[in-house]
Amino acid sequence: MDFLLSDEQEMIRKMVREFAENEVGPTAAERDEEERFDRNLFRMMAELGLTGIPWPEEYGGIGADYVSYVISVEELSRVCASTGVTLSAHISLASWPIYMYGNEDQKQKYLRPLAEGTKMGAYGLTEPGSGSDAANMKTTAVRDGDEYILDGSKVFITNGGEAEIYVVFAMTEPEEGHKGCSAFIVEKGTPGFSFGKKESKLGIRSSPTVEIIFDQCRVPKENLLGKEGEGFKIAMKTLDGGRNGIAAQALGIAQGALDAATDYAKERVQFGKPIAKQQGVSFKLADMATKVEASRLLTYQAAWKESQQLPYGKESAMSKLFAGDSAMEVTTEAVQVFGGYGYTKDYPVERYMRDAKITQIYEGTNEIQRLVISKMLLSE
Ligand code: CAA
Repeated sequence: MDFLLSDEQEMIRKMVREFAENEVGPTAAERDEEERFDRNLFRMMAELGLTGIPWPEEYGGIGADYVSYVISVEELSRVCASTGVTLSAHISLASWPIYMYGNEDQKQKYLRPLAEGTKMGAYGLTEPGSGSDAANMKTTAVRDGDEYILDGSKVFITNGGEAEIYVVFAMTEPEEGHKGCSAFIVEKGTPGFSFGKKESKLGIRSSPTVEIIFDQCRVPKENLLGKEGEGFKIAMKTLDGGRNGIAAQALGIAQGALDAATDYAKERVQFGKPIAKQQGVSFKLADMATKVEASRLLTYQAAWKESQQLPYGKESAMSKLFAGDSAMEVTTEAVQVFGGYGYTKDYPVERYMRDAKITQIYEGTNEIQRLVISKMLLSE
């Protein structure tokens, strides 16, 4: 057993940390305040190869492993959780299903520009009436000659509006339940495909979250991803990996909050000594650091398993559950360490705390993760 990162993984961490600290961090608070997405940061990630990090070079990627990918999401999220989820949704939710289930033409046409970062990806599963109960979706896709006609709407779409390529799930046989669900690749600009409400959110405010609407939207039959009826399985498999991307985001948020709280506790003097020397504070920091490290081990382990082509669905649900809950606890404690100052926008910990909350909710609430873990555990 070897817990050391490889030279390549260390190199990627160093590169992403420098990029995050120099380019992403300085505008994070301002973008949060203004709810502003910065496409230029995505372009810079493309130049570094991050937008195609786990894909082979033949599809425009850089052929790194999934551990390098989660390290990248972690490092981005350490300074800006919005930028972390932009990459996570782009890689895990949009590019992954095309890499796994796309045919060669689809990979060249859609995965390559996603990997090269000339286009951005998004994933459309959730609907106004079907969140946790994903199989209960109402969006339909009716075959008409060489096309499918999509009707319905999807909500809470990360990267929505900005992305050019959407992996969307719709019912081709509504009476068949989850077995009647199919996956499609839909391009921005397709007639009948439009954007609705942009959410104003508690956290990850510089990551766009948008409703997408299909009104008699005609999609060529070549854009069916996998086979008809395979959509629900594709959606679930995609989330198996996506959840570990969110674990990495939660880990990065928690690490950022821990770093800020530790630095502050060493400087802030009360009762004649730095508060870090008061046991009430130092024990808090110890608990926070332990949760961060345990989150890291679970997240890297799930990514390593995926890279080794070992089963990783249960591990990924566990990492998302633990890292998400830990991020909420660690960021709340970070605000506490900062006291009154932590409650203001002069310091980043209130943003970390707001950002952490979503990691317990999206890509399956942490209650759903417990359902997934227990189902897998009991069927072993
Ligand atoms: N891999 C492969 N197949 C899977 C699977 C997996 N991980 N999970 C389920 N399946 C298959 C089952 O084997 C079953 O297939 P068969 O009928 O052939 O046996 C089928 O799918 C149905 O399984 P279930 O009976 O378990 O399905 P269910 O309806 O009870 O739902 C659920 C299961 C786990 C609750 C699922 O609905 C779920 O994950 N819900 C949460 C949805 C979610 O995570 N949404 C996130 C939206 S995306 C997002 O948040 C993005 C963002 O903003 C960044």
